[in-house]
Amino acid sequence: MKVVFQGAGAIGAAAAALFGRRHETVVVSRSANPGSEALNSPDTVRLQDTVRPQSSAPTRDTARPRDAAYPRRVGSTGRETVRRVPVVDWATVSSSSWDLVVLTTRPGDLDEPVAASISGARPSIIAITSQVDGDRDIAVSMFPESEILVFSPALLSERTTGRNVRYWQPPAMPVFMASGCRDAVRRLRRELGGGLIVAVPAALLSAPPAVFIPYVAELSVREGSWTALRTHLRRPTQASAEAVHAVTGVRIPMSARGAGLVLDALELFVPIDVGEYAGRHFARHEGQTLDMLNGWAGQMARRAARRDSQRNPKRNAAPALAELAPALGELAQALRLRVTR
Ligand SMILES: NC(=O)c1ccc[n+]([C@@H]2O[C@H](COP(=O)([O-])OP(=O)(O)OC[C@H]3O[C@@H](n4cnc5c(N)ncnc54)[C@H](OP(=O)(O)O)[C@@H]3O)[C@@H](O)[C@H]2O)c1
Repeated sequence: MKVVFQGAGAIGAAAAALFGRRHETVVVSRSANPGSEALNSPDTVRLQDTVRPQSSAPTRDTARPRDAAYPRRVGSTGRETVRRVPVVDWATVSSSSWDLVVLTTRPGDLDEPVAASISGARPSIIAITSQVDGDRDIAVSMFPESEILVFSPALLSERTTGRNVRYWQPPAMPVFMASGCRDAVRRLRRELGGGLIVAVPAALLSAPPAVFIPYVAELSVREGSWTALRTHLRRPTQASAEAVHAVTGVRIPMSARGAGLVLDALELFVPIDVGEYAGRHFARHEGQTLDMLNGWAGQMARRAARRDSQRNPKRNAAPALAELAPALGELAQALRLRVTR
């Protein structure tokens, strides 16, 4: 398949390296040099893979990075590989046809020329990586000629220095979990082959962010301090339970102690310094985190209004958010103060 990743960021570059093993794959960047030179010799992004391929003989494309301090614990396993992925400009993408375009920017945030180039390319499938409530609908209205799927990255990936991106793919996990039109997801999975995407129902796709994003929000409110998050787990745990209720309709009991144990397990089993990664990485996506909290609050309010109108059709005032989802509301307010200051 011919696949384009929009944006030479953390996910675009890492996923392109993984897709590029089997498919014609490029990353398209607003900052790639336009003109024939860029067309003939595309920019490269160095990637550090924490999983060594079966055949690990060094090649022109593999090299041991000097700055292997991060991912910290991976360095000690001695399993590192650097790959290069081609980065091209939009003119290059526009001159060819593509089967799949993966957006790593929220559709509504795309620069106008970028959105116009994507429309002009008319790929049969566009996948968005944002899971903010309403972003899929925005993509559907922006790109009516393409099938819109949602891809949830199963990687941890980060831009480091210069053109370097480092990522960790949990063992046995795909690159993306995909949801959307069942036939389109099935067809895409077949054409991509195993290991790159798995099909997941939409409700299941939105549950994991509902569980973990409130902790990300608390981390941001606490200036990215993992230690401060670890000692303030009560509010995000309650907000997480409210968000899960908003997306699934099910109330799942959660405890700050249980959350602490999960964080312990992450620190133990994920071969990167989770605290450092999370503090740095999520600071770049605070606006999106806030929109996700607001999205769940909105879903909660709609759910309550529906329930109320069924129970009492004459009453049209639904309970306030402070009653429905107090922790989610409080966390969103704290993050809003930070994002807008
Ligand atoms: N990183 C992870 O581990 C991870 C994990 C789970 C989910 N996600 C989700 O995946 C998505 C991408 O995350 P990321 O970490 O890869 O972000 P990122 O590193 O910021 O990359 C996004 C890229 O989009 C391009 N871009 C930014 N603003 C744009 C605009 N206005 N118009 C057009 N292009 C624009 C930029 O590339 P150019 O300047 O090169 O065009 C930028 O590098 C986010 O929704 C994030 O929540 C990420």
